[in-house]
Amino acid sequence: MKSRRATFLLWTLIVVIVLAAALFAYVWKPAIEPVQPQGSFPEEQLQRGGNIAAAGLCVVCHTAPNGQRNAGGLPMETPFGTIYTTNITPDPETGIGAWSFDAFDRAMRHGVARDGSYLYPAFPYTYYTHLSPDDMEALYAYIMTQPAVRAEPPETELPFPFNIRPLMAGWNLLFLDPDPIEPVEGESEEWNRGNYLARAAGHCAACHSPRNALGAEKEGKHYLAGGEAEGWIAPALNQESPAPVAWTQEALFNYLRYGFDEAHGAAAGSMAPVVREGTARIAESDTRALATYLASLGNGDGNGEPDGGGKQAAPAETERRTQAAATLSPPVTEGARLFASACLACHHAGDGPATFGVQPQLWFSTSLYLDEPDNVVRHILDGVQSPANDDLGYMPPFRHSLSDRQVATLVNYMRTSFAQKPEWRDLPAKVGHIRSESAR
Ligand code: HEC
Ligand code: HEC
Ligand code: HEC
Repeated sequence: MKSRRATFLLWTLIVVIVLAAALFAYVWKPAIEPVQPQGSFPEEQLQRGGNIAAAGLCVVCHTAPNGQRNAGGLPMETPFGTIYTTNITPDPETGIGAWSFDAFDRAMRHGVARDGSYLYPAFPYTYYTHLSPDDMEALYAYIMTQPAVRAEPPETELPFPFNIRPLMAGWNLLFLDPDPIEPVEGESEEWNRGNYLARAAGHCAACHSPRNALGAEKEGKHYLAGGEAEGWIAPALNQESPAPVAWTQEALFNYLRYGFDEAHGAAAGSMAPVVREGTARIAESDTRALATYLASLGNGDGNGEPDGGGKQAAPAETERRTQAAATLSPPVTEGARLFASACLACHHAGDGPATFGVQPQLWFSTSLYLDEPDNVVRHILDGVQSPANDDLGYMPPFRHSLSDRQVATLVNYMRTSFAQKPEWRDLPAKVGHIRSESAR
């Protein structure tokens, strides 16, 4: 009896040790030997890599406010704590100059750094994992030939248990899908290029898809169904698009290339840097491919006319509607008065005097048709200080000149008269909340 029990315990122990060893072997990743900084690559490859780096928005995340390009240190607020971006210039000590291509490839595809530690998925490797081998090599060549900057960004220190980086092995097991993006048969080459750019380098879904409780992107029908980024709402780009006028291929091209389309308005908030550093800089044919791909996602009927459901009013109708609102015909509400005195000079319909830059017609702005008022409130409180394109002009902040109640009155006036949607509820409190959140 006694010896049978001892045998049982022994076997249990062996099984536990084997399982622990297997888990360790699965989670543990070796460090990859440092190499001498790599110096010279063919010009053609560097061009290709520069295009992918722009599409991938490396510089948007890896540059601190007023910092040197790609030297890291930008704080990223996540539900799990603040994560700082790293220095990805080729400085051998503080950057990634000592990383071989294999080390770089492993980080970009599997989220494991050269020293074997796991990286957080705030770094969008779950998208870059789909880059083609040629694009990855070109990206490496490009990054390694940029100016080396000696700079040590702050360490990321998340609270327990998120500070245990090996836990990301489990996260990767659940959510990392490293399969390449296969061309879809029956679609054009341009469409397939757009699909690849959106899903791999461009990581559009990182902001435009909703996320689950573990911070992973929801897929399937949730793909590009609307998400959130740094306190901004990234509207749905699929058939759920709330835009009042359907997005055509041409409108998407204008928006992504120049940051503005007449029937949709300007790219602001966290979309402005996507355009400025990304879709405005990549090869023009690539911006077109993205537009072709997005236009196919069914956001309306794609011809700029009202769609069958009657949800979308034609431009002429919306314009007529708003012109009436802007002429201050009695009875004049407080909202109309605020709009006429603070906004109309730059946001008027028709022929009035033009100010510098563009004059977005606000009834086209998707921000007025969303379920939540965050984007329009942020526009008003903070204005537009760094537009997607310098020619678009700037908008002054109204943070100090309008109270929460005034902003709320103005916003609900625009919501009901321009968008003809029901008022947003509890708006003054929401404005107060957004004001304190976005205060710098
Ligand atoms: C959405 C923001 C974001 C974008 C865009 C982004 N990164 Fe990062 N990256 C991060 C964060 C955050 C980290 C650090 C993660 C951590 O500490 O676990 C990181 C880490 C890295 C690392 C690991 C460096 C190290 O020292 O461990 C590499 C390599 C890297 N990024 C390369 C790139 C390249 C190349 C691009 C463009 C194609 C890019 N990143 C775009 C956020 C981003
Ligand atoms: C960092 C987050 C982020 C990323 C990445 C991002 N977007 Fe956006 N996008 C936004 C936000 C926020 C808005 C709303 C901007 C506004 O209201 O001015 C937006 C707006 C848009 C719009 C206008 C939608 C409308 O109805 O007004 C389009 C089109 C768009 N994005 C396309 C893309 C594409 C294509 C990509 C990938 C190449 C992309 N976005 C990547 C955050 C992002
Ligand atoms: C000095 C001119 C000016 C004034 C005054 C002004 N704006 Fe703007 N506004 C702009 C410009 C220029 C843009 C586009 C900037 C960009 O995104 O690059 C803009 C963009 C916007 C947008 C985003 C539009 C879109 O296309 O999605 C909203 C919303 C907005 N303004 C609301 C207001 C409101 C409300 C007021 C009054 C409180 C106001 N603006 C006053 C110049 C102005």
